[in-house]
Amino acid sequence: MRHDPRHSPATRHGIVVLDFGGQYTQLIARRIREQEVFSAILPCTASIEEIRELEPAGLVLSGGPSSVYDAGAPVCDPQVLNLGVPVLGICYGMQWLTHTLGGKVVRAERREYGPAQLDIEGASALFRGLPGEAKALKAWSSHGDHVVTLPAGFSVTGRTDNAVAAFENCAQKLYGVQFHPEVNHTDRGTDILRNFVFEICGAKKNWDRAGFISATIDSIRRQAEGARAICALSGGVDSCVAAALVHRAIGDRLTNVFVDNGLLRRNEFQHTLELLRERLGLNVIGVDASDRFLDRLKGVVDPEEKRKRIGGEFISVFVDEEMKLVKSSAGLPVKFLVQGTLYPDVIESVSVKGPSAVIKTHHNVGGLPENMPFGLIEPLRDLFKDEVRRIGRELGLPEEILSKHPFPGPGLAVRLLGEITREKLETLRGADVIVVEEIRHAGLYEKVWQAFAVLLPVRSVGVMGDDRTYGYTVAVRVVDSQDAMTADWSRLPLGVLERISTRIVNEVPGVNRVVYDISSKPPSTIEWE
Ligand code: XMP
Repeated sequence: MRHDPRHSPATRHGIVVLDFGGQYTQLIARRIREQEVFSAILPCTASIEEIRELEPAGLVLSGGPSSVYDAGAPVCDPQVLNLGVPVLGICYGMQWLTHTLGGKVVRAERREYGPAQLDIEGASALFRGLPGEAKALKAWSSHGDHVVTLPAGFSVTGRTDNAVAAFENCAQKLYGVQFHPEVNHTDRGTDILRNFVFEICGAKKNWDRAGFISATIDSIRRQAEGARAICALSGGVDSCVAAALVHRAIGDRLTNVFVDNGLLRRNEFQHTLELLRERLGLNVIGVDASDRFLDRLKGVVDPEEKRKRIGGEFISVFVDEEMKLVKSSAGLPVKFLVQGTLYPDVIESVSVKGPSAVIKTHHNVGGLPENMPFGLIEPLRDLFKDEVRRIGRELGLPEEILSKHPFPGPGLAVRLLGEITREKLETLRGADVIVVEEIRHAGLYEKVWQAFAVLLPVRSVGVMGDDRTYGYTVAVRVVDSQDAMTADWSRLPLGVLERISTRIVNEVPGVNRVVYDISSKPPSTIEWE
């Protein structure tokens, strides 16, 4: 069978979650991985071939915000029910199963949100070993429709006051739950998922760090046989871990390129180059391409346009570097580009609902031109950041890199609103250094997800000494998050906020006002653009 080289072999024989757009889809995958079984999420529109590629032991159909009766309600290929592996429909997934197999779903008189008492009936394998005497659990739901007529061959295995809460067709290994076993508020939810994964699907524990590393290295070795690769290093955790994995697989056939796009933090370029060469032993070429990037950004204010131009420029820098590499040695061709793309980058750039719902074009996913002259090696594209940090630790990467806050590929361009000029970049760098220094001094750097400054194109009146000022505003953004899919603003001690504000206004010329961003994601995003 031809394997999609983007996925590691360690990501096969797990559970595939088909995403119908539910807000808890990622949680389902995480809960399964916590059982040491791999779980990948694919959009519900994935083809049968794509699903087969992962050789799943079972499928989960996620929840979603739609009703099966909505025009344009998401559907998946009904052939997923004939793959010969067990299927668990959760919430919308259960309704889709019902609707597709000839049962009936109706709009409930009373919508069910939050906790409900689940009464278990019969002896379903899904509920084996729970819940003890009471046979009742608190189950957390969020749905408007519910099942009233079961498809042929199904029986009810659980009810809440006003709905069928669980059903199954044991012979065909089809299961459905109306509630969300993946959320913490559901009693014994993890046990229910565990029963599905091990008892029903018979999955094996195959997901641990050492296994992932060795399987990934093997797969990269095969993919890049007889070829060279270049890696776009940014100095962040993701690209460093990706480079370290590829380096282990193909050694010096990997050349790393670290581009100064003129949009990096202060001293980042030199410092990172030293770190990568000296501490990681990587073969890194530093390319100062700041003029090229800043020229391409002249006059551009639209955030998506900024991202696309930066993405496009990255690729042309790499093509130029490749030409140089080819010229400098008559050796093997450079065929691959290594990137540290993570799962959240993929999911936010490729939406189940199509391009209209794309939130931001992440330059290492959506901003790449279609006719790229490289194949991609993206060994981390199924992982979350915290998983990547653990893999990096296992690979022996220095803590200074592993604990580094994420920094977006388009760099300061998406933190400087409006047109980008060298002068404004310097202003932003000055403020940014202060934010990070103060967060470090307060011992908070490792506790928060990200801390940075944003330069707004807003000027306001101030007074300094006896003079009127008319200066720019800096927004300070500090957030807590697990995986960047959701985030909340950090409740910083007031003293820390005060020092940040005072220092920025005193030390950064041209800034006379500092505001603190108190928006969560959603509805905001972490970066401002
Ligand atoms: P948002 O702003 O979408 O950011 O909430 C989520 C996380 O992703 C980072 N980010 C990027 N990372 N390329 C990257 O590699 C990008 O284009 C990009 N844009 C945002 C952001 O810093 C946050 O951690």
